[in-house]
Amino acid sequence: MIYVIGSMSVDLVVQANRLPKKGETILGDAFFMTEGGKGANQAVSAARLGANVYMVGCVGDDNFGEMIVSNLKVNNVNVEYLEKIDDCASGTAHITLADNDNSIIVVPSANSEVSIELVDEALNGMDKDSIILLQNEIPKSIIEYVIEESYKKNITTIYNPAPFIEINPELLKKVTYFTPNETEVKAMFGEEFNDVIEEYPKQMIVTLGEQGATYFDSELINIPAMKAEVIDTTGAGDTFNGALAVGISEGMSLNDAVQFANQAAALSIGGLGAQGGMPYRHEIECK
Ligand code: RIB
Repeated sequence: MIYVIGSMSVDLVVQANRLPKKGETILGDAFFMTEGGKGANQAVSAARLGANVYMVGCVGDDNFGEMIVSNLKVNNVNVEYLEKIDDCASGTAHITLADNDNSIIVVPSANSEVSIELVDEALNGMDKDSIILLQNEIPKSIIEYVIEESYKKNITTIYNPAPFIEINPELLKKVTYFTPNETEVKAMFGEEFNDVIEEYPKQMIVTLGEQGATYFDSELINIPAMKAEVIDTTGAGDTFNGALAVGISEGMSLNDAVQFANQAAALSIGGLGAQGGMPYRHEIECK
């Protein structure tokens, strides 16, 4: 069972041929709304790849909240640990797609309301085979609590430190795996992060976009990315993390799980929207 403790949002996406400069107004090409949030994206990724997934988090009592919950249900994600917060907006992410990349501002809203009580309910339902997937779009105090508790209970935890926030480095030692991307690893450890990977063998997995993913296991190992057509890179990291959790929950070696996650991430960028290109199990070659 995979428990994703994290954010759920509606993504409000504008496509334009470039980003506006400071103080400038430009015309965009298209607008669409779709389901996102790093937590929900990772939950959907894992569920589409065949895992039993619980989403743990909060939505607001608005139309966006309904949209988020019904999308999770359609994707077979269990919503028993979702809390609807009264008089509160659901999380939103304001995304501009330009130059083959994305820029995002997240407004957490209900995602800021995730509480220790809610997390405890989920933790009480877990057993030794459970896996927790955690990101940085819920309150820092909750992230720290989840890491401490999962460590005490010996539960496998994959911590995706996205977007970057400062956390006590001692906490990193308590997660089973952590998965920064290049921007996040540089913010955490500085530009020369290759040396730091050695300090976290088979624990820190750095995702490098077109360059694949890297970790240390007696030597520096790079698993190259699969070549893919780029429609929208939003959610590629989330697809990777959801797939990694699936691989690990199925007992794959770390190498196989990273390869599996790389394939899923490559397929995900072929569709529009964070979840638009996320693959189903039958689309993945190495199973
Ligand atoms: O990782 C992609 C996600 O980040 C988007 O879906 C958006 O909601 C932001 O949280």
